[in-house]
Amino acid sequence: MRILAGLFDPLVIRGLTLNNRIVVSPMCQYQAEANGYINDWHIVHYGSLALAGASLLFVESTAVEDRGRISSRDVGLYEDGQVEGLRRIVQFAHAQGVKMGVQLNHAGRKADLDDDIIAPSAVAFSDRYRTPREMTPEDFASVLEAFQQSARRAVAAGFDVIEIHAAHGYLLHQFLSPLSNRRQDEYGGEREQRLRFPLEVVRAVRAVIPHDMPLFVRVSASDYHPNGLSIEDLRYFTQAFRDAGVSLVDVSSGGNVPVAPDKVYAGYQIPLAESIRSHVDVLIGGVGMLDDPVLADSIVQSNRADLIFIARGFLRNKNWGHDAAIALRQPVRPPAPYVRAYPTSQA
Ligand SMILES: Cc1cc2nc3c(=O)[nH]c(=O)nc-3n(C[C@H](O)[C@H](O)[C@H](O)COP(=O)(O)O)c2cc1C
Repeated sequence: MRILAGLFDPLVIRGLTLNNRIVVSPMCQYQAEANGYINDWHIVHYGSLALAGASLLFVESTAVEDRGRISSRDVGLYEDGQVEGLRRIVQFAHAQGVKMGVQLNHAGRKADLDDDIIAPSAVAFSDRYRTPREMTPEDFASVLEAFQQSARRAVAAGFDVIEIHAAHGYLLHQFLSPLSNRRQDEYGGEREQRLRFPLEVVRAVRAVIPHDMPLFVRVSASDYHPNGLSIEDLRYFTQAFRDAGVSLVDVSSGGNVPVAPDKVYAGYQIPLAESIRSHVDVLIGGVGMLDDPVLADSIVQSNRADLIFIARGFLRNKNWGHDAAIALRQPVRPPAPYVRAYPTSQA
């Protein structure tokens, strides 16, 4: 018999124990210094989110190469000197009992920079973006190495989880989707070939991080385009990621072509996650308008997702996790200096 768990039950993933199912989803701040170093904004922003009641807090999309930044204000882990600032955030969160994740990313054709813009194929995202250069064998080698080096730096900074960003139209999604990958070589064509480079990245990262450290991948489970990704593609990709040592797929959607879903509503991406999970035995991160605590709890209780990623809800309310505990009549576990704000019956 399966034991049903709720939003406030713990979850063990490899060597990581999370004390609830609430995750602060990665959110770009575009506030870093031009050299990719963090500053006081990040210390205060992530510091306050470490007090918010989530068990796992993700740092925003973090660039593995300078030409892989989304903007000139992205956080980077492409230099050793960038480790120190992030380590400070991680240490503060750990002191609060909160685990930290980092989302490693390469923007590919969505890099809004005066730089060498690379992508699987020389196809621009839209007419507002530059046309990228098709990646050469040297580019494959350098991007792979960049993901690996950044993962090593993430481990050195003390992060508990790495998430590889393969969603929202960034480089790895560009490889996965037939809309952006028009390559004629072994890295393009059928789903197996389109998966090839993202899977090489996953394996390269998995090879340099500790065995007990979980690896997550964020995917876009739909391109909202008739010629885009299919759910069968996603099942195939997820199975391969899982076999390569990925513990959880975090199921988002869109971003690879400039179209929006017809309808968005609370939990609108959960059916995509379910149709992956129904075929692949993998942990699921649910995301997208899940900041009603009753809904978030029911998604965990009904085994539709294992972790609930919340983004905007935490920007609006830096107390979201504690408020959710009150709403669900669960014990509130505020940071020690805040305990007096709660009646003893709650804390
Ligand atoms: C300000 C902001 C920045 C974001 N940056 C990222 C990012 O760095 N990486 C990512 O995968 N998603 C990013 N997202 C998407 C969120 O992680 C999340 O998937 C999305 O907002 C839906 O969740 P929500 O309805 O709880 O906000 C961002 C969203 C917001 C609002």
